[in-house]
Amino acid sequence: MIRNYFLFASLAVAASMSAVGISSPSGDITLDFNLDSAGQPFYSVDYKGRQLVAPSPLGLIADEAVFTTGFHIESSDTTTVDRSWQPVWGEYSQIRDHFRELAVNLKADNPDRFLTIRFRVFDDGVGFRYELPAQDKNYLTIRDELTGFNFTDNHKLYCIPGDYDTDEYLWSETTFADLPDALNNYHRHSEAQRAGGTSIQTPMLLKTNDTKNPVYVNIHEAALIGYPAMLLDVDTGNNSMKSHLVPDRLGVSAYLQLPFFTPWRTLIISDDARDILASQLILNLNEPSKIADTSWIKPMKFVGVWWEMFTGYQKTWAYSDDYLAKPGITDYSALKPNGRHPANTDNVKKYIDFAAANGIDGVLVEGWNEGWEDWASYRKNRQFLFDKAYPDFDVDELRDYAKSKGVKLIMHHETAANAADYELQLDRAFQFMKDNNYDAVKTGYVGAIIPRSEHHTSQWMVDHAKHVIERAADYQIMVDSHEAPRPTGLCRTYPNWLAQESARGGEFESMGGNPPSHTAMLPFTRLKGGPMDYTPGLFETKMSYYNEGKDSQAGTTLARQLALYLTMPSPMQMVCDLPENYERFPDAFQFIKDVPVDWADSKYLEAEPNQYITVARLDKNSDDWYVGAITDDKARKTRIDLSFLPKGKKFEAVIYEDAPDADWKSNPQAYRIRKVKVDSRSHLNLNLAPGGGTAIQLKAL
Ligand code: NOJ
Ligand code: CA
Repeated sequence: MIRNYFLFASLAVAASMSAVGISSPSGDITLDFNLDSAGQPFYSVDYKGRQLVAPSPLGLIADEAVFTTGFHIESSDTTTVDRSWQPVWGEYSQIRDHFRELAVNLKADNPDRFLTIRFRVFDDGVGFRYELPAQDKNYLTIRDELTGFNFTDNHKLYCIPGDYDTDEYLWSETTFADLPDALNNYHRHSEAQRAGGTSIQTPMLLKTNDTKNPVYVNIHEAALIGYPAMLLDVDTGNNSMKSHLVPDRLGVSAYLQLPFFTPWRTLIISDDARDILASQLILNLNEPSKIADTSWIKPMKFVGVWWEMFTGYQKTWAYSDDYLAKPGITDYSALKPNGRHPANTDNVKKYIDFAAANGIDGVLVEGWNEGWEDWASYRKNRQFLFDKAYPDFDVDELRDYAKSKGVKLIMHHETAANAADYELQLDRAFQFMKDNNYDAVKTGYVGAIIPRSEHHTSQWMVDHAKHVIERAADYQIMVDSHEAPRPTGLCRTYPNWLAQESARGGEFESMGGNPPSHTAMLPFTRLKGGPMDYTPGLFETKMSYYNEGKDSQAGTTLARQLALYLTMPSPMQMVCDLPENYERFPDAFQFIKDVPVDWADSKYLEAEPNQYITVARLDKNSDDWYVGAITDDKARKTRIDLSFLPKGKKFEAVIYEDAPDADWKSNPQAYRIRKVKVDSRSHLNLNLAPGGGTAIQLKAL
């Protein structure tokens, strides 16, 4: 009897200690953790009483020690947190961070190994990360992560190919089973850059194939620091995905020194697509601002000598064409100017005048510095100088002129992916900016990364991005990075990181065009990591194809471009078109002049990925509301309810909409503007053209 009793008791303890769980504050999401008989950790997620993520593996593969099996639960802690914080800028002036947390402290024996897996379960999803405390093997060479996302059916996937170096792709709407076909349609940049046959990038979106009440899941990561980006290898037959860490060319994903914790793996979950857009889960999983005084961080709109290079046939960032005969250029003043170089003193002054006349804060000056010829030369050197202007760009004169007009110049640092050299020049470059009154920089990493053993999203480049943003903060410089690792909410910790590209942006309108659905996809995916420098505001939708004689047509109506200022929010928002194109449509341009870039509140009114988004936002600095609505290539009629407006207050709605005969293909510039008085009891009928949109200013009366 006694023996049996002891046997029973020890089994009971073992059972209770190999499985633990926790629910979200509302109870809708439940997270279960358990160990299998080999001591391997697994988690699963239920949503509203049904299994969403089936038991999925956890663990890390390291050269020095086993962090996959042999574990037992030493202890587990749970806690509930409910707090709020105020971002420096963003979609909301206050963000609630409310979750229940489960930390599972695992131990394996002979030799001793320790691993904590920390789960946070919010009402809008789940985050978890691996925490490696200091232990016997304190240096780990990480080859892979076992983290799985096992689903139970052939759900819909919205994704782009797995690629170590670029994310400038259009989105596929496919399923687990059809993914190989979808990925076959992509032109991938090079064999070396691709992750593998059915790899995809995060953020990705999944929609369950439950026709009555589908659940949407955004999978990504938060707080990517000191570790490579995560791709997902998709097992198309089993409806499952597995983490694939971007390796360096030696096949190593991460070199870690303990103690270390990985980025959070995130699942934003809801059966209402609007909640995916509204979710602040990824920001909540990032650390608070490391910058104490943020008074110098100022959201802004800007124009730039940029679109000229994309659409002006053969205009160049480079000052001269006279480079092929001169490998390893050192004396730029000896070069013959090509006369097709927009970043020259007179032209930049015109942009400064235009910005000053229209209340636009900044002017971006791409192609101002030495190095572009070197990049284009037959040797393809990639040696830019970040404190040496071209002979036709007068730094002093432009500094003084911009200042006299109350306009900020925005610096451009194209590194051509020579990140190693950029680090060497960084302090000089930032000091040069400060000396000449530049407070913001757009960085770029076009090409294969130098050091050559690295990729755009490998650990080294993730470290590089952190280094650049921290040095920029030291100099009180705001950053808009292009071709950097996809954002993971680090703009909370470094609020000087105003925007990133890290996806296919508006520049592709000059390379055949972005289909209208593209901007109905980005907010569900890429934007969950942080704002995008998408470059909205395109009024002339037919243009000369980038660097080719033929034409390109943008996938948009003019009115839709106004709506993008709401649906693609960014505190560093470009006004992308040429001044002369705005001067042709001054009444529509008024919306761009008026629209804020920083918000006190946001209400997502309607949303379906790849189809439509309607959002209302409250200006942070007034009582005015703005609404933006976009559709895909199908016309859309909708009736929006203005009950989000404060009760009893009157507003004048200025509605910028597609004209009845507008169509992105055949009649993109047909719009009309009407005014109507409204209050919180009003409804507005919206009529979106194929590829169109509506933008509304609601002026408080
Ligand atoms: C690619 C960037 O996305 C684009 O905005 C920039 O103008 C060019 N590189 C040149 O730096
Ligand atoms: Ca780019």
